[in-house]
Amino acid sequence: MEVKVFNNAQEIAVACADIFTQQLTEKKNSVLGLATGASPVPTYKELIARYNDGKISFKDVKTYNLDEYCNLPRDDKNSYYTFMHENLFNSVDIKEENVHVLDGNAAEPEKEAADFDAMIDADGGIDLQLLGIGTNGHIGFNEPSDAFSDGTFKVKLTDSTIKSNSIYFDDDSMPRYALTMGINSIMKAKKIVLIATGASKAQAIKATVNGEVTPLCPASILQNHEDAVLLIDKDAASLL
Ligand code: GLP
Repeated sequence: MEVKVFNNAQEIAVACADIFTQQLTEKKNSVLGLATGASPVPTYKELIARYNDGKISFKDVKTYNLDEYCNLPRDDKNSYYTFMHENLFNSVDIKEENVHVLDGNAAEPEKEAADFDAMIDADGGIDLQLLGIGTNGHIGFNEPSDAFSDGTFKVKLTDSTIKSNSIYFDDDSMPRYALTMGINSIMKAKKIVLIATGASKAQAIKATVNGEVTPLCPASILQNHEDAVLLIDKDAASLL
């Protein structure tokens, strides 16, 4: 696992967009794994700028998003479906049929999860997976637990995640469950890039980079991936 430290979020966005640009240049029909949260937003802005400059195209790209809330309408302002369309998809030339965001309202979540994994496999697997990290070390919505998860599954969110993400929701309306790619789904990606900024991520980054590989810090599994890079700012790196 490689760790690169930058001065600020904008430098990270440029470095991350460089990785995506290289991927899309080498393989125009790449399968991208995408993430939500505040961390990827500057990267998405940079990718949109490069698309507008004619440097990259998403015309033949397929995307799979890491996770989605359960019991939240797709068109809710806080759904990850809406997030992805507002922050990336609506501004580039991706085809809607090539966009895959889990349906958190599926009547049969297990089937939804299994179908999602099967589609990724049928598309040849994820070429490049973008990740953020939770303050508790979660990736996607793989919360700290006793064992690393396998494929996509329905997860009960922890109090720490509910506290972190509740800022986006009115009152106490944040969903308590989500569908998420599992740790094994994430680890099957050919290349992984994780971005993190701010002192609130420093402890999780320390456990990810210097701690033992343990499901108590799900991101620590990235130590076992042969092509994973962490792009982090000085504050997130402050405990390394
Ligand atoms: C959410 C998402 C994660 C994301 C994390 C960190 O819980 N499910 O995929 O990495 O938040 O978000 P942020 O970048 O806003 O700190």
